[in-house]
This record gives sequence, C-alpha cells and structure tokens, in this order.
Amino acid sequence: MSRAAPNDPSGEGSQHGNAAPSTEVRAMFDRIARVYDPLNLAISAFQEPRWRRRLVARAGLGAGGRALDVATGTGKVAADLQRRVGPDGHVLGVDLSPAMIDVAARRFADRPGLAFVVGDALALPTDDGGFDAATIAFGMRNLPDYRRGFAEMARSVRPGGRVLCLEIARPRSRLARILRWWFDRIVPAIGRVAGQGGAYAYLVRSVKAYPAPDRIAEIMREAGLTDVGWESLSGGIVTLHVGTVGPR
Ligand SMILES: C[S@@+](CC[C@H](N)C(=O)[O-])C[C@H]1O[C@@H](n2cnc3c(N)ncnc32)[C@H](O)[C@@H]1O
Repeated sequence: MSRAAPNDPSGEGSQHGNAAPSTEVRAMFDRIARVYDPLNLAISAFQEPRWRRRLVARAGLGAGGRALDVATGTGKVAADLQRRVGPDGHVLGVDLSPAMIDVAARRFADRPGLAFVVGDALALPTDDGGFDAATIAFGMRNLPDYRRGFAEMARSVRPGGRVLCLEIARPRSRLARILRWWFDRIVPAIGRVAGQGGAYAYLVRSVKAYPAPDRIAEIMREAGLTDVGWESLSGGIVTLHVGTVGPR
C-alpha cells in the first residue's frame, strides 16, 4: 500500500468524506498552486477544457446570471462561467487555498463581475439562494463531508437553480484498464517529474476513496437536491452530476 509523503494528506476516505484534515489539504494546494494548471492539463491528457465546457453548458445560465464556483482553484471554471453570463452577470469563486485564489485573482483581474474569495466549501461565505447555479470541479473528493458540501451549494442557489459536480471516477467501461493504468502509473509519474510526487499520489488515493456515481447521486438527494442525474465523460474517467434545488 502506498504511503503519503510527509505533509501530504492520506487521501483515504469513506462514504462520508475525505479523511484528510482540511488544514493538510489546504497546505498541499498552497504548495502546488503555481504548477497546478500545466500539470492538470497533462494528467487529463488535454481533456480537461472539454470537461469544463460540458459542465458550464449544463449549468443552465444565460446573460446576466449569477454563478458560484466552489473549490475554484486557479479559477478556470469560474472564468468560463463568467464568459457565459457576460458583463452584467456575477460569478464568485471560493477556495480554501489562499495561493490558489491568488493565482485566480491575478489571472482574471480584468474580468467584470468575476470575484474570488478564500473560504471553506463546508461553510460558504454566501447568502441563501443568492445564485442561479453552483459548480464544483475536481473539488468534492477533497471535502471531509460530501453531504454538507452539496447542502452548502444547494443553500446558496435559488429554488429551481442547478448544482453541478464534475469529478474523476473509477471507469467501468471497456477503456477501463487503459484509463486505470494511466491514472495509477502515469499520473503519479508526471507528478514526480514535476517535483510534486506526494500531491499526485494523494490525487490517486483520493479518487480511489471517492464513492461510486450512484452513491454520489444519493448523497445529493440526501442534501435536498431533486431531479439528480449523472453522465460519464471520456469513457467514464470523469462523471458530471447535476441536481436541481427544490422549493423551500
Ligand atoms: C483539484 S483542485 C480543483 C480546482 C479547480 N476547480 C479546477 O477545476 O481546476 C481542488 C481544489 O479544492 C480546494 N479545496 C479543498 N478543500 C476545500 C474546502 N474545504 N473548501 C474549499 N475549497 C477546497 C483546493 O484548495 C483546490 O484548489
């Protein structure tokens, strides 16, 4: 069994949430903030922009809309949401890691209506029902309590609005063996070459610990979402869950 490097969270989780303390998760993302984007593109085999476009398209937003991107990281999903809602809209990106938020805020400083703030997904700095949609991309698996994460997103969205979660999955398709090999061998190797072996070993462990798509759909319903469904992207290596906020 692989061991975490010193100061890297274990990534061992449960059906409830990631076992790694948020302080360790935050410190790890602070360390990798500057190399995160190029590494992310490489480990996704350049698929990540396509997945992001699908997420934003399913959010159901139009010009002037209000969107929340939780665990926004370097802000790419938030920036795509801002493009969708235009200059009259409003998009807020929230992340636990000050270094990630710093990268996002610098990169997208010229975008009207796009703001970034440090905050915890389990206690979002948002008003009830203040947004038309809330997204989380590759962030849910890092949270110590998935249900509370979804409940906080649902609380922040108006009735009838959408909550969307894009996350890496363990594929069961015919491509599964190749994809697992890529994930178990190539992803940690890319991380090691970039001097971030511990962080990318954590990524692999946290994906293995993350519940199956059906269970995530159940957790979303337990968090108060309705019409929950999910789709597999790129042969099942990523899943996109979508739910609707019910009447309050
Ligand atoms: C794999 S990155 C994903 C970043 C971005 N959404 C993307 O698609 O590239 C996961 C992010 O989740 C953030 N995160 C982890 N735990 C969090 C928490 N409790 N609250 C808010 N953000 C958190 C990390 O700081 C990190 O930026």
